[in-house]
Amino acid sequence: LTPERYPVERLPFSTVSEEDLAAFECIIPGRVITDPEQVQTCNVDWLKTVRGSSTVLLRPQTSEEVSQILRHCYKRNLAVNPQGGNTGMVGGSVPVFDEVILSTALMNRVISFHDVSGILVCQAGCVLEELSRYVQERDFIMPLDLGAKGSCHIGGNVATNAGGLRFLRYGSLRGTVLGLEVVLADGTILNCLTSLRKDNTGYDLKQMFIGSEGTLGVITAVSIVCPPRPKAVNVAFLGRSAGCPGFTEVLQTFRTCKGMLGEILSAFEFMDAECMQLVGQHLHLTNPVRAVTSSTQEEPSLSGDQEERGSNSESPFYVLVETSGSSAGHDAEKLTSVLEQVLNSGLVTDGTMATDQRKVQMLWALRERITEALSRDGYVFKYDLSLPVERLYDLVTDLRTRLGPRAKHVVGYGHLGDGNLHLNVTAEAFSQELLGALEPYVYAWTAEQRGSVSAEHGLGFKKKNVLGYSKPPVAVKLMQQLKAMLDPKGILNPYKTLPAQA
Ligand code: FAD
Ligand code: MLT
Ligand code: ZN
Repeated sequence: LTPERYPVERLPFSTVSEEDLAAFECIIPGRVITDPEQVQTCNVDWLKTVRGSSTVLLRPQTSEEVSQILRHCYKRNLAVNPQGGNTGMVGGSVPVFDEVILSTALMNRVISFHDVSGILVCQAGCVLEELSRYVQERDFIMPLDLGAKGSCHIGGNVATNAGGLRFLRYGSLRGTVLGLEVVLADGTILNCLTSLRKDNTGYDLKQMFIGSEGTLGVITAVSIVCPPRPKAVNVAFLGRSAGCPGFTEVLQTFRTCKGMLGEILSAFEFMDAECMQLVGQHLHLTNPVRAVTSSTQEEPSLSGDQEERGSNSESPFYVLVETSGSSAGHDAEKLTSVLEQVLNSGLVTDGTMATDQRKVQMLWALRERITEALSRDGYVFKYDLSLPVERLYDLVTDLRTRLGPRAKHVVGYGHLGDGNLHLNVTAEAFSQELLGALEPYVYAWTAEQRGSVSAEHGLGFKKKNVLGYSKPPVAVKLMQQLKAMLDPKGILNPYKTLPAQA
């Protein structure tokens, strides 16, 4: 960590001693990792923008082991960094200094699954994609999906209150998570792992840990309700040709989709032309509604403007619309009517539709892999904002003018259906000057719209000082009091989520 980029001072925690290592070895024999190479991968975040200097990685398998580890750390005043799949976007998943890394990677057991209720109970370290496979084999799906599914853990998802690609249809983890088991800072095991849909006995404590980013406790098990697997999934990928200014039409397309597709609409994602250019340039993905929309497609492809089709014009916006329902014919018919409507009314000019799994995945990859394409483009300044949907793209255009050639790319994409913009700026390398042009400007702009400075990624290390843009001082103070009550020594993920107290 460069001090000028992230000015932060180490708090007076103890440092790990030989005796501590011996104590850990007693609790989890053979799973105390001190090999520098192995520890190093857990010290660096996915974006490679922050790096800690921990020397020890602990890999417990049970809640009891997590409890004993935390009891020891609490007694010894050792700081702890809970870590799941290390795919977090805000620097919360890696140590800032020499915090002990407590990984859930070996806590990957499914505890139970009920095929009537769809309720899954599992350990926190289960990888999301593996859980998806597990429940799909039983005719259910996970209520959340994200581009990081192959690495992220369900415990990490809950700890960040991840949103993702199915939020529009299945809602927040605050609704689908039914129960949690959490180990508190002093090692106490809080077992709220119920599988009840309704339970109004006292305060809903699990909500405190959902989205708490490892600062209030270590989530060790999760009970979550899974929806039935939809029998039919259709995806349409739509674009507007260059020359059509556009975002208003994107919003009208969303309105049309909501109105005509009703309950079968399961995603409405958008990306701009620069995103498309980047997935093409860095990942060699092909734009399916430019040049490709021809007789080579086995799925129906549509175009409202034959002149544009096959030409090299760039669409200023693309949207991905997904339906999930129970009747393949009926759903395809509905989506086709929507496409006809939006093409005929000129809201979009090009489109392609997929029902077979291979093409559905190919279309989804264009949207899901933007993050990866951006990370190959250079240093990425990442913003994850909730905004009134009608103003969702204004900041992107505004910043293009404001930053000029200082930025390599200024892009906008995200979960339009949830009012969630991902605004990303790339540059050859980190630059303090560019950062100064972006912050606090982006946060103040967002606050002016009464938006949120973190829609779904959390605050972690990088955004903890901007909490005040989206929450009043009384709320921030209450959060600090809660933290002090649950973790009086402040050992759990210090330097994260909450601004440092004066
Ligand atoms: P980590 O990154 O390991 O940790 C994240 C935070 O949670 C840290 O503060 C950590 O200390 C804490 N934590 C982890 N496990 C626990 C635990 N068991 N108990 C307590 N605290 C814990 N996010 C979205 O919301 N929506 C998206 O669509 C989305 N797409 C992504 C796509 C890509 C390609 C990538 C790389 C990331 C994406 N993310 C997205 C961000 C990230 O994947 C999510 O935040 C995810 O939920 C993090 O899970 P993880 O297991 O990797 O947690
Ligand atoms: C996404 O929606 O792709 C993720 O939240 C990751 C990102 O913001 O890049
Ligand atoms: Zn997202």
